[in-house]
Amino acid sequence: MKVLVIGKGGREHALCWRLHQSQSVWGLFCASGNPGIGQVAEPVPISPMDIPALVGFARDKKIDLTVVGPDDPLGAGIVDEFLAAGLKIFGPTKAAAQLETSKSFAKAVMKAAGVSTAAYEVFDDADAARRYAASCPLPVVVKADGLALGKGVTICGDREAAFAAIHDAMEGGRFGAAGRRVVIEEFLPGEELSFFALCDGDNAVPFGMFQDHKPVFDGDKGPNTGGMGAYSPPPQFPAGLEGRVMREVIQPTLAEMRTRGIPFRGLLYAGLMVNGSDVNVVEFNARFGDPECQPLMMRYEGDLGALLLAAAEGRLDDAPVTLSPKSAVTVVLASSGYPGDYRKGLPIAGLEKIEGGEPSEAKIRWAAKKVRVKVFHAGTALKDGQLVTDGGRVLAVTAMAPTLELAVSSAYEAAEMIEFEGKHMRRDIAHRALSRISTTPR
Ligand code: AMP
Ligand code: GLY
Repeated sequence: MKVLVIGKGGREHALCWRLHQSQSVWGLFCASGNPGIGQVAEPVPISPMDIPALVGFARDKKIDLTVVGPDDPLGAGIVDEFLAAGLKIFGPTKAAAQLETSKSFAKAVMKAAGVSTAAYEVFDDADAARRYAASCPLPVVVKADGLALGKGVTICGDREAAFAAIHDAMEGGRFGAAGRRVVIEEFLPGEELSFFALCDGDNAVPFGMFQDHKPVFDGDKGPNTGGMGAYSPPPQFPAGLEGRVMREVIQPTLAEMRTRGIPFRGLLYAGLMVNGSDVNVVEFNARFGDPECQPLMMRYEGDLGALLLAAAEGRLDDAPVTLSPKSAVTVVLASSGYPGDYRKGLPIAGLEKIEGGEPSEAKIRWAAKKVRVKVFHAGTALKDGQLVTDGGRVLAVTAMAPTLELAVSSAYEAAEMIEFEGKHMRRDIAHRALSRISTTPR
């Protein structure tokens, strides 16, 4: 079949890389793509938000399946437009994507479905929000209702901070329309876990557990980013957790969405907070996480095209899903200054030391130890034939190995080989798992 992927980051490069290896896929396009994606898919110069042009392209090219990467086109109704045009597409409709695009909607669904989440109140009136914040237990979490580029959540240790967050969102216009309504919720202590489930409206299958690293600096310091690295599977969580989350979170949420007449098809990403035996949902996303999708695509062992088509067609009940038992680790290489301002257009060197190119001592050693290393492009561009930086997250190195320790050391070894001015990476990806491994006697 012919597949069109929508998006242009590391997540979409990982999806395209796997789709390119799918037996069922013989034509692969990506709108709008990046230089890494261009090695495996034909670039389509249409913005992921230009939905009418994307529908036209899919119709003209007789695309059999479109796969949506980012949340923005989902929130703008890309799936509804494709379905109306009779085109198959992987992702939730605009109404179902509200699980991500409206925190108050997600909370109402969880409450109705009996899914464990932080106690909360929703406010459209800033004075009422302040009255609540004046007396609720601390710390408290103030969240813009809508999409706010990952910046809409403020954890407030004191009342002044809560009042400021309420003012900025509801009266100061900090997040535009997305912040006019806020959700104020209880702070949940614990360890975060990203949980993916592939859904076809009726059926769901687990599709990996991950730990992301959102703050920009080591030790979880500094402002939140889209994610500075991830690994999978996180060994510190009990074996029964996957089944429990499917039963207590994913299945009830799907059932509630069906009851509301808006079945969820696509990737349901539950951001969980795990504290001992307590498992709470912090947020839902309606798409693959990035960078989590990168270790996932390394571990996934099947025909991705056939699998995503089965989800889009409501046939997940008989689709096999196998993830490698090996560990995969992704380290993001970012531009200096990200998530704030950063320079673009800086030359990138060293990729040939990791993949393609001549055999090298490192490549031979990785092969001998059954380590697989892959570099996915996020914000890169070609300028006069030279690969240059073109975004906050520039590249990400993923390594998969029989042990987590070897995957981590290999990913960092490869990450050191890539050079560009101002390259920034966290040095402690997977630290929570590694500290447990090194302190647990075996
Ligand atoms: P969200 O955009 O909802 O994922 O929130 C961003 C980050 O804020 C999450 O990844 C958590 O680290 C943190 N967070 C959000 N809600 C809570 C909460 N109720 N308790 C503790 N941390 C939270
Ligand atoms: N890595 C977190 C996200 O994709 O939302």
